[in-house]
Amino acid sequence: MDAYSSSDSNHGSVPRTRLFGRERPMHSVLGRKVADVLLWRDTRVSATILFGSAAIWFLFYFGEYNFVTLSCNIFITTVLVIFIWSTGAEFFKGGRVSLISKLRSRAVQQPSLGNSAHCLQVHNSSDLELHSQLKEFIPEQQKRLKKLKSEHGKVQLGNITVDMVVGGMRGMTGLLCETSLLDPEEGIRFRGLSIPECQKLLPAAKPGGEPLPEGILWLLLTGKVPSKEQVDSLSKELRNRATIPDHVYQTINALPVNAHPMTQFATGVMALQVQSEFQKAYDQKVIHKSKYWEPTFEDSLNLIAQIPVVAAYVYRRMYKNGRVIPMDDSLDYAGNFAHMLGFDSPDMLELMRLYVTIHSDHEGGNVSAHIGHIVASALSDPYLSFAAALNGLAGPLHGLANQEVLLWIKSLVEECGENVTKENLEDYVWKTLSGGKLIPGFGHGVLRKTDPRYTCLREFALKHLPDDPLFKLVSDLYEVVPPILLELGKVKNPWPNVEAHSGVLLNHYGLTEARYYPVLFGVSRAIGICSQLIWDRALGLPIERPKSVTMEWLQNYCKKPA
Ligand code: MLT
Repeated sequence: MDAYSSSDSNHGSVPRTRLFGRERPMHSVLGRKVADVLLWRDTRVSATILFGSAAIWFLFYFGEYNFVTLSCNIFITTVLVIFIWSTGAEFFKGGRVSLISKLRSRAVQQPSLGNSAHCLQVHNSSDLELHSQLKEFIPEQQKRLKKLKSEHGKVQLGNITVDMVVGGMRGMTGLLCETSLLDPEEGIRFRGLSIPECQKLLPAAKPGGEPLPEGILWLLLTGKVPSKEQVDSLSKELRNRATIPDHVYQTINALPVNAHPMTQFATGVMALQVQSEFQKAYDQKVIHKSKYWEPTFEDSLNLIAQIPVVAAYVYRRMYKNGRVIPMDDSLDYAGNFAHMLGFDSPDMLELMRLYVTIHSDHEGGNVSAHIGHIVASALSDPYLSFAAALNGLAGPLHGLANQEVLLWIKSLVEECGENVTKENLEDYVWKTLSGGKLIPGFGHGVLRKTDPRYTCLREFALKHLPDDPLFKLVSDLYEVVPPILLELGKVKNPWPNVEAHSGVLLNHYGLTEARYYPVLFGVSRAIGICSQLIWDRALGLPIERPKSVTMEWLQNYCKKPA
């Protein structure tokens, strides 16, 4: 929450600000500006006025009072004021007065809900910039990691078993990821906030609406809950970064129009790579490794800004005869994505905001995030790393699962009809299992309960489309599938994950092309993966290189006496 807001500021109340010890409503922009200047909240304006007044006072005090000196004084003062004003933005953006702003921010940060995320209470121009916020936060976290390593570097976190080595490292703690943490029973927390908490705290496009993904990006990067103004400023920044070079479209056009949407999307991301700031800085050898995070941040923000345009292009190329819809400057990130795909109903815009937010991050060990991390650990730039991550996401056991779920449900309807009984469902589930196939959307590598992302999509469906026949089917499957999987005896988690639900919602609003669904996942996941990559560079994490062994090595090792 910011200095201009009461707790429900996102929902259109009169902006408030603290002035002379009290919260006061600020109806006019001028009133807020004056408060800013008096309290040095807008550093550039305050500094210009201070230096300007000092210069006038100085010149009048020491000058001789005749027409020529007076005119010269006024002229010099005016030039000085213009100079300070015009250079001020750059000067202060460079963080040279960050001490003042740091002290002020510290004074007003307060823990939110006892979690690690914080609400920021003060605004100045740099408070609206994600980069400045991050720049303040990074040194703290670097010190924290240094201390952790020096004090506890040798503490053991568990035992590695043969099962773990041959079983996909399941249950093995082996990665550092600051943006989110997955609890097997409770599900994901983004910087300490659960999904319902994010829905409550992150700014929305409309009162009581779904969280804006710009808010989750801010939260993942800074650990703080942003205000609506900060989120709006980030929306604008992302729109400004969303220009796509022509060669990207040409590269995609070189592929057959029916190539899998993930192939077209990942190809587009690779084509965007030629503009990498990280690669440029690294090639020119102008950058110290302590600053690697800065071009990584630039690349990441450009990438996050550009991929909805590329993804929408792929969709329109494949399914709408190439009729592209331009971005709408009045819309937020996810709203614009839905709009560019061709969906403008307010409910679909809300669904897209929720969808992108909840798919944004799932700690560091899932296939796509882990690939992104490992590729970036070789100092490959964010485009190369994210394209690799997308290729992992394109696998049916990861991001392709959402495509599989809807196709499976549709084939079920084809075989059993829409008015399917629970007995029909049970038969169909058994038939799938006895065909050696998995029930798509059920189970998870880490989760041991129903995925909270599933639950929140279910709540969205109950609110907006309770009578949709496919939603009813999904609800019935929720009752039918887990007991059958439990009966099998081998399944650790029989409960549904997010993908068991997402498809029927998209289908309801007209996005019926299931093959395209993993691309939506990819656009969303860029937010989490890029945030993780920025932190990887900020914390100076090294190249990832675990040790591998042969079966013979394992056999010999296991024969040795303990
Ligand atoms: C994800 O969102 O990445 C999936 O649930 C898979 C995972 O966490 O392993």
